[in-house]
Amino acid sequence: MTDLEQLLQAAQAEFAATSTPAELENAKARFLGKAGRVTELLKGLAALPVDEKKARGAEINVLKSGIEAALTERRQALADAELALQLKAEALDVTLPGRSRGTGALHPITRAMARIEAIFGSMGFDVADGPEIETDWFSFSALNNPENHPARSMQDTFYVDMKDEGGRYFNLRPHTSPMQIRYAQAHARRYAGQDHMPEIRVIAPGRTYRVDNDATHSPMFHQVEGLWVGENISFKDLKAVYLNFITAFFETDQLQLRFRPSYFPFTEPSAEIDIMFESGPLKGRWLEVSGSGQVHPQVIRNMGLDPERYIGFAFGSGIDRLAMLRYGVNDLRQFFDGDLRFLSQFK
Ligand code: DAH
Repeated sequence: MTDLEQLLQAAQAEFAATSTPAELENAKARFLGKAGRVTELLKGLAALPVDEKKARGAEINVLKSGIEAALTERRQALADAELALQLKAEALDVTLPGRSRGTGALHPITRAMARIEAIFGSMGFDVADGPEIETDWFSFSALNNPENHPARSMQDTFYVDMKDEGGRYFNLRPHTSPMQIRYAQAHARRYAGQDHMPEIRVIAPGRTYRVDNDATHSPMFHQVEGLWVGENISFKDLKAVYLNFITAFFETDQLQLRFRPSYFPFTEPSAEIDIMFESGPLKGRWLEVSGSGQVHPQVIRNMGLDPERYIGFAFGSGIDRLAMLRYGVNDLRQFFDGDLRFLSQFK
């Protein structure tokens, strides 16, 4: 082996021994740098006689190319190794289980409302929405509940520090009944002066407010008002509609309905509607689900209609109560605590 071949082997070995680009550059300098061994060889040419110089020069150049080739090869190998390392570090493990977003669900009260709307919708009832901050007139007076009448104290009302045109404080509506008046008035205005007025058939679900807070009362709760007014709408229609609703809502015929005489200023006669399941966990207990009655002639008048011609029924049911019975919830306040352990059961 010639000295030049040995040198090439030495260079290849040193390059191979490096493990970083910086080490490789240092090794390169030892051979090809200013004081490197190949450079020294080239300088040594000067001392040679002319005829040897040419042949030796050519050999050294071959050596130099060999070293450069080895260098390039090692550079590439180091770069490849580094890339491989980086790819490995940043690798995506597609076999890991995904992080799911967690799907939401409708609140049980929202679901109960949707059921109620669908069931009454199927019986031809419109669905109306109205203000939660009401005037004294719509919440009470129009419903035949005059100022200073003891019947007003049936509701522990929240008042808002703001007065209506009559100088009375606005209130957070204690029931959905004001919607009877609002809806019927608009209806009566639309058909004013015409011979024939289509019947009023509407439900108005929504939030209501009272100063109450225990296992079966929350200061904010939900009611659905129902109203059917026409020329010949009687209590038997109320019974048919309500029975149809309640059996559809609870998806069972195994229940009874009863009307228990009661008092509301806006109905005469008035009744509480109780239901009793004939099977299941609630079997045999009468449960109050709604107030109801035949709309009082004065209320019909306040709707802008003639009580000699128009008659009908109304009811106001507690949606939270219905949802509690349907989903087996024993504390109404759970609906509004926002506890996901409770709410996620309704997915
Ligand atoms: N508004 C009554 C309440 O909150 C419920 C009610 C009773 C509504 C009789 C009615 C009705 O429409 O006719 O207790």
